[in-house]
Amino acid sequence: MKTLTLKLLLAILISTTIAPNAMADMSKAGKEAMVAAGHIMFKHRCQSCHSNNLSKPSYGPTLKKVYGRKAGSIVGFNYSDALRKSGIVWNETTLRKWISSNKEMMPGTRMRHVGVTDKAEQNFLIEYLKHISK
Ligand code: HEC
Repeated sequence: MKTLTLKLLLAILISTTIAPNAMADMSKAGKEAMVAAGHIMFKHRCQSCHSNNLSKPSYGPTLKKVYGRKAGSIVGFNYSDALRKSGIVWNETTLRKWISSNKEMMPGTRMRHVGVTDKAEQNFLIEYLKHISK
């Protein structure tokens, strides 16, 4: 019984310290800074293939409104079968996995391997993608 309680406490502690929602206490200025940093990351790592608006065509599907979107759902874009049939919804967890290693997460995707493995850089990008999805 005692070890169970201890294990439970440990699990809660771990889940709250490494939970992705570490930005909950951030000020408005801090959040703006995250979005600005994410925009820089986007320009360097994603913009060659993805647009951030709905009108501009690009090699990859637009990432405007990607947050909360069902994967492979932009009408008219020629997705791989892997992505179209994945059943994924783009949220914090799935986006983090995708940008850290999309090929590993989804064998068969047409997106070239993108490896953003730094946690802070992932956070920047995710904040930016949320921002352009409002
Ligand atoms: C070399 C071009 C290229 C780069 C660079 C690239 N992508 Fe992609 N991306 C694609 C292609 C092509 C697809 C469609 C993949 C498929 O159909 O399997 C895609 C798909 C996606 C999707 C799925 C969208 C949907 O509608 O389901 C997301 C999310 C995404 N990319 C995010 C990113 C992010 C974030 C970056 C930058 C860190 C990035 N990509 C960099 C080409 C690229």
